[in-house]
Amino acid sequence: MEGYIYILLAGKEFLNTRELLFGSYIMKMGLGNLFLTLLFTSLLAIISVWYLTKNLRELVHATRRFQQGDLEYRIKDAERSDLASVTTTFNEMADTILEDMNKLQSIESLRRELIANISHDLRTPLAVIQGYIETLQMKGNKLTKEQRDNYLNTIENGSKRLAKLITQLFEYSKLEANQIEPKREPFLISELANDIYSNNLILAKNKNIHLDLNMDENLPLVFADISLVERAIQNLMDNALKFTPSKGIVTISVLKKDENVEINIKDSGYGIKTENQTLIFERYRQTKSGKKNEGAGLGLAIVRKIVELHNSSIRVHSIPNDGATFTFTLPIHGLNRTIQIT
Ligand SMILES: Nc1ncnc2c1ncn2[C@@H]1O[C@H](COP(=O)(O)OP(=O)(O)OP(=O)(O)O)[C@@H](O)[C@H]1O
Ligand SMILES: [Mg+2]
Repeated sequence: MEGYIYILLAGKEFLNTRELLFGSYIMKMGLGNLFLTLLFTSLLAIISVWYLTKNLRELVHATRRFQQGDLEYRIKDAERSDLASVTTTFNEMADTILEDMNKLQSIESLRRELIANISHDLRTPLAVIQGYIETLQMKGNKLTKEQRDNYLNTIENGSKRLAKLITQLFEYSKLEANQIEPKREPFLISELANDIYSNNLILAKNKNIHLDLNMDENLPLVFADISLVERAIQNLMDNALKFTPSKGIVTISVLKKDENVEINIKDSGYGIKTENQTLIFERYRQTKSGKKNEGAGLGLAIVRKIVELHNSSIRVHSIPNDGATFTFTLPIHGLNRTIQIT
């Protein structure tokens, strides 16, 4: 006998126990890992969804604030957001809505103001007309021909004033509400100036005012709305003739200035105090100095609107008791320039 060989045979019980132990260990490990993976991916998913929907939530929040009436609310840094095209569009849309609402509100308040002013302004001449008509009816044949003519004259003047007022109010309200789009076309300003000069000659003569027309030679065509320009010049002429006493001079001058034609209406009348020179262009503004005035204070407001529609501005130069000069320019036709439409 030189030695022994031991062969250890695992018993069935041992094998079963070992398998059980090993199996449960693997299972535990697997379950743990699975749980950790699930936890991690869920967290990752939550963070990603939170991050990805951040801008969307801001958009929803902004929409809700806007709907609740906070019209000034805007998405911050809209251009840097992941949904930049949507967020910037939202901000732009909000701006447009607010702008339109403000416009509508100002038109509405203007409309109310105009209705209030119209009813007030129309009442006075209407009361005068009614009063004289009633007197004519009551006194009838007892009136002399001269008295009758006098009353009828007053009624005629009153109705003319009324018609003028209605036209002016209508025109001004349309200009103010931007309902008038100038129909620009090339025309000869020299011809228009000549027409206005001839139309005003008789009135000037009746008032004993010398009317002058002074034009540069070969004036170019201007590019503007002829009827609006005529209206503006006529309003300035009405004022010049109204606020210039007998023996005065009113001059229409049309001069070429660089790329424009300059139109001046100069008078030798009562003039306008410096502090009133900007105010007179506002509607219903009339100065107390000078002569008694039956106008409504709309003429210059209309002129300003018309001139502004032509991308120009109206200026006045005046020394009290030494006359006034109103100046505006119109663009020459054919010169290459951009016209800004506001
Ligand atoms: N050429 C002028 N000389 C002196 N004052 C002027 C002259 N033009 C205008 N004004 C002053 O500016 C005011 C406003 O002028 P505007 O033409 O708007 O109104 P109005 O002439 O009084 O009335 P309307 O033109 O509506 O008939 C006038 O009432 C007047 O006080
Ligand atoms: Mg006037």
